[in-house]
Amino acid sequence: MDEWERWEHRVQTAAHPVAYRLLKAVAARGPVVRVPRVGVVVSDARTARDVLLDTEGYTKTGPGAAGGLWTPVLGPRALINMEGPEHAALRRRLGGLFTPGHVAAVCERVLRGPLGEMERRLAAGGEVDLVRVVRDGATEVIRELVGLRDTEADFARAAAVVAGVRLWRTSLTGRQAREARGALARLGDAAAAAYRAGDESTVPGRLRALGLDEAEARAAVVVFLLTGTETLVSFVPRLIALTHDAGLGPDRITDALIEEALRVTSPTPLMLRSAARAGRIGGVRVEAGERVVIATLLCTRAYGSFAPDGAPDRPDPAELRRLWFGAGPHFCLGMPLAMAEVRAVVGALRGFPGLRIVRRRPARGVLIPAYARLSLRATG
Ligand code: HEM
Repeated sequence: MDEWERWEHRVQTAAHPVAYRLLKAVAARGPVVRVPRVGVVVSDARTARDVLLDTEGYTKTGPGAAGGLWTPVLGPRALINMEGPEHAALRRRLGGLFTPGHVAAVCERVLRGPLGEMERRLAAGGEVDLVRVVRDGATEVIRELVGLRDTEADFARAAAVVAGVRLWRTSLTGRQAREARGALARLGDAAAAAYRAGDESTVPGRLRALGLDEAEARAAVVVFLLTGTETLVSFVPRLIALTHDAGLGPDRITDALIEEALRVTSPTPLMLRSAARAGRIGGVRVEAGERVVIATLLCTRAYGSFAPDGAPDRPDPAELRRLWFGAGPHFCLGMPLAMAEVRAVVGALRGFPGLRIVRRRPARGVLIPAYARLSLRATG
């Protein structure tokens, strides 16, 4: 195993010691495999895309899909647990919030301070934990975007609940749901206050201007908090680790290399759907109500080993294109924000071509595989 592969393996197995090995073993049996008590596992990009695009056949709202997890906490109209025309209408209304120009301006404003501080510490020969920098930065960006101030404690509690969710669980346990509801309710109250103030520099204010009601705005804000931090905490340190382990400094990271690292790490390793009716996926029979597990990581990894040059000559098959951000109507709404934040951190590290990883520790038992710590020091 190459160095990068060894570390990526450790990141995956620390997060999901059983599920990761199980999925790999399942994928070795074929592109679509039924696994008792888990569901029908898809590890082929073309089939995965077909499932994600067939929104009549496979939904996020039925049994076994992620909707069951979040509906008790967020209410029934929280984007990630909606389908059909209602979902499309809410997406249309939200779309303008994540335009590349707007998110780049917010990132620049919010991240200038913390990234400047990171650069100063590195330049002075100090050690920087990139996981912490990214978590604090991503949290600040989301809080700025949505207009939630003075909510650190509730946010941390909500994030802890998200991190504690296990892969195969389809509902939160009583205590988890109570804790999550408490922390999220307080975040929701802060969102509602921003909504009522109608300040269009905040998401709730803009949502109001877009015609959303208070409950929709409340839920949307919480969803952004849930989706907009752990994904980046997962990806950015792994991007820097991957390139480091492949012998490259951050000055060598191009947009093509960022895409290649997204393919290899696939920060959201699974997407869950529920079969709305009986049918077949790749020749395997699926019963109505059965869970379909899209093993995104295995779909994208099938296209080869990590190419440190960004693989400019490798074919770019249509079925693979940005599958790590999903496909179809639920395609990642925050992609422009994610890319702006990744580029901002890479831009700040670019001045340190001799960056070294001095310490690292994969995070144990988390939903989204990540490093718990990645300490960097500038050398040379
Ligand atoms: C590298 C970082 C990220 C990755 C890999 C990623 C990946 C994904 C994927 C795979 C989905 C589709 C899930 C499904 O169909 O079941 C998704 C949806 C979503 N993402 Fe991201 N995401 C990232 C960052 C972000 C950020 C920064 C935000 C900001 C708020 C965000 C907001 C969302 C939202 C709101 C949805 C739900 C869209 C819908 O259901 O219509 N994501 N993301």
